[in-house]
Formats: sequence, structure tokens, C-alpha cells
Amino acid sequence: MRRFLVAGNWKMHGSKELTAELISGVSRHVLDNARISEQKVLAYDILVCPATPYLQQASTLAEALPIQVGAQNVNANAQGAYTGEVSLSMLSELGCGHVLLGHSERREVFGETDTSIAEKFASCVNGEFDITPVLCIGETLAARQAGETENVVAAQLDAVLDVVGIEGFKDAVIAYEPVWAIGTGETASPEQAQQVHAFIRAKLSGLDAEIADKLRILYGGSVKPGNAEELFAQIDIDGGLIGGASLDVSSFAGICEAAQKLATQA
Ligand code: PGA
Repeated sequence: MRRFLVAGNWKMHGSKELTAELISGVSRHVLDNARISEQKVLAYDILVCPATPYLQQASTLAEALPIQVGAQNVNANAQGAYTGEVSLSMLSELGCGHVLLGHSERREVFGETDTSIAEKFASCVNGEFDITPVLCIGETLAARQAGETENVVAAQLDAVLDVVGIEGFKDAVIAYEPVWAIGTGETASPEQAQQVHAFIRAKLSGLDAEIADKLRILYGGSVKPGNAEELFAQIDIDGGLIGGASLDVSSFAGICEAAQKLATQA
């Protein structure tokens, strides 16, 4: 069975104070919750993705805690004259084990393309650093209304598959994030999300059933403690990528607890 992953994307929010508060507060909440459950330990994984300046602080704080740390972006090149950019080796030194790739804000605000995202993905899976790419894909409202959701998602996947092949997805994570649901308070219904998750898994399964079966596909877009459980209960939803609600200890811990509940009742 796939293990749930609850990931927080802090975006360009935070401070040293908030980093300390979130990491210690969330771990205290979820560990207390696990202690009173039958399982005693966390039956799912937690990842936080702070802005680059807080990565070192976050990984130091999280060292002895059941929280992993990831970055929000990386440059595909190993090093060089790329002012303002950060490489995989740098992220590795900062204690990152994951990196978000192709978030819709990167695509829309910073002009990242399927090609540049595929290059970054390839550098993660072909490189010497153990950094798992979390590939974000999803359609805009216009695309959904035009009935193009599956075509958009398939094209975003194909761009990466063309470069790394299905083997490249062996240790990757996918986050399906409908753009119209990000930061809007509007969530895809569990059925809408499940439909796209199943489509993604079936597409990859056509290439390698074992890789597709093991792959974690997260849902992102206005996940809250109140809707996390019904979303995560869907057969092809393996956790969430959480924006706004990851900046509040009780909201993020509440979403984590939905994963614990589902994982332990199975
Ligand atoms: P949201 O953001 O939870 O605030 O909608 C999700 C994301 O951007 O990853």
C-alpha cells in the first residue's frame, strides 16, 4: 500500500520565527495524536517546503523529528553563472530530500515551460543527489471548462516522460493541482480529483504497472482540515500538497491527522 505524504508548500511566506513555530508545533501535534492512537507511530510522511533562506534552519530543527524538508525550486545545471539560482548539490547540503517542480506559480508567473521543468526533473533523477522531484501538474479553469483537463495533464506528463522515460518516475512524486483550486478556497470535489488521479495512474500504468502502482500522487488546491479526509480517502489520492493551510500549525496538523486516521484504519 502506498504511504500518504502530506506536504506543505510555504511559498514566499515565513520568517525564522514561523519556521521554528511550524516545525515544533506540527511535530508536537502529530506525535501527541499518534501516541493516543493504537498505532503509536506516524503511519504517513510529512514534508515541509520552506523558502530557500529557511531550509537550513528547518532541516536542523527537523533532524530528530518525523518531518522531511524540501525546496520549492531548483536549477537544472550543476553550477555556473546563473545569478540567483540554487543547484541540487546546494539543496542537498541544506538537508533537502525533495524539490517541488513546475508549480503553477512557477509556470505562470516565472514562465517555466514543460521543457525547462523536464530538464529539472531529469537533473534530479539522473544526478548523484538523493532529491525526489515532486512534479506539479494541473489544468486552468479555461482548460477544464473546455473539457481539456486530461489533455493538459497528459501533455505535462509527456514532456517529462519524453526526457526521462517511465523509469524516471520510479522515485518521484506527482502533485495534481488544478490551477483554479490553488489559493482560491475552491477545491476539486473528491470525485473530480479522483478522476484525474486515476487518469494519471492509468496513463503511467500503460508504461509500467509496477512504477505507476507505487507512485504517490498528491492532490493540491485549497486542502483544509475539513476536506482532507474525504479527498485522501479516494483510492488514487496519496496525500496532499498544501499551500495556505500549511502556514498554520493546527490546520496543517489537522490535515496530517486525516492521513493518520485513514492509514491506521485500513
Ligand atoms: P493552496 O495552495 O493550498 O493554498 O490552495 C496549494 C499549492 O499551491 O500548492
